Amino acid sequence: MKGTIIITGGAGFIGSHVVREFVTKYPDYQIINLDALTYAGNLENLKDIEDFSNYTFVKGDITDQNLMLDIFKEYQPDGVIHLAAESHVDRSITDPTAFVMTNVIGTVNLLNAAKEIWKDDYVGKRFHHVSTDEVYGTLGETGLFQETTSYDPHSPYSASKASSDHFVRAYHDTYGLPTVLTNCSNNYGPNHFPEKLIPLCIHNILTNKPLPIYGNGKYTRDWLFVIDHAKAIDLVFHNGKNGDSYNVGGFNEWQNIDLVKELCKQMDEKLARPIGTSAALITYVKDRPGHDLRYAIDATKINKELGYQPSVTFEQGLSLTIDWFLNNQEWLDNVTSGDYQKYYQGQYNG
Ligand code: NAD
Ligand code: DAU
Repeated sequence: MKGTIIITGGAGFIGSHVVREFVTKYPDYQIINLDALTYAGNLENLKDIEDFSNYTFVKGDITDQNLMLDIFKEYQPDGVIHLAAESHVDRSITDPTAFVMTNVIGTVNLLNAAKEIWKDDYVGKRFHHVSTDEVYGTLGETGLFQETTSYDPHSPYSASKASSDHFVRAYHDTYGLPTVLTNCSNNYGPNHFPEKLIPLCIHNILTNKPLPIYGNGKYTRDWLFVIDHAKAIDLVFHNGKNGDSYNVGGFNEWQNIDLVKELCKQMDEKLARPIGTSAALITYVKDRPGHDLRYAIDATKINKELGYQPSVTFEQGLSLTIDWFLNNQEWLDNVTSGDYQKYYQGQYNG
């Protein structure tokens, strides 16, 4: 395949890894990174590839319908990989409308722009929507999310992502748009914004601040190294079946408290401090409203149909992640200055 691919949200955490994967693996593609550069977007994430001849950055807000159409007309993409979103559950609780605007309206604007320029000629075209396992709601102590699990979102974030998934399916079923959808579990890795559990704890350990554990800490997530998510997106974008969705996960469940204790242990080892120094910062705080108890992905379909396997174990991935943050403290300092401080005060009362 040759062609032009618009990747939305390419300056964010996962998007930057997807952009790098595509720019370096497919020199024949033109990769357009379309991103509004919100608080979560950071072109520093892509410094190493910004001069590649097959990479272009375009600043644009997906909520702007006319702008999206103009950009699609100008670049005539063959493919779209849509990651741009408001992505943090806690922020969705304080400002749900922003999530409806970007995650729902923004997605519909992109679907309309693709439909408009492709004009029913869908040969060699693809719209890949990147979604989350949170659309399925919560599991009890047992069971796994399958592609057939009913949607049951509980947070404004997951409700907005569920809505966007419904629109993607509707555009496939109604207009024949060649869509694929992935629902992935919790990612971690380099460039993760420190509002999310793992990078927030790494930052707080480095700055000797409390490690806030919501509720009793027994909530469970299924963690996947971000580069393995990027590789799954590559597989599904190229080989997934039109109209289908694929769950992506690591078969790697951790209760939050156990995960943070493991992180503390590895941080102490890497910082050559007595084991227990970081764990002493663990502080139980007020629970997140509507907190989903447990997410766990059954990734059998992507494994069987597309041969997908995560490439690193959790131990390797966590170690690589900590090393990246220790070697990139300037990145961490930059993203935690300014507005982040206001966010942190509001969320954790200082
Ligand atoms: P992120 O918050 O780190 O990055 C989001 C990116 O989107 C940023 O670069 C931001 O500038 C951009 N953006 C936001 N609003 C925009 C708008 N209106 N117009 C254009 N660009 C805009 O998010 P992430 O964690 O990298 O998640 C990326 C995608 O993957 C999201 O769709 C998210 O729902 C999904 N996802 C995330 C995870 C996870 O664990 N982080 C897991 C599964 C799925
Ligand atoms: O499951 C996929 C989702 O994973 C993605 O769709 C979201 O974009 C992504 O943000 C993530 O959502 P979570 O809410 O699971 O991630 P977060 O890192 O915010 O929280 C992970 C768990 O840790 C969750 O149970 C809440 C808890 N937590 C989080 C924070 C920020 C704490 O206990 N303390 C904290 O300070």
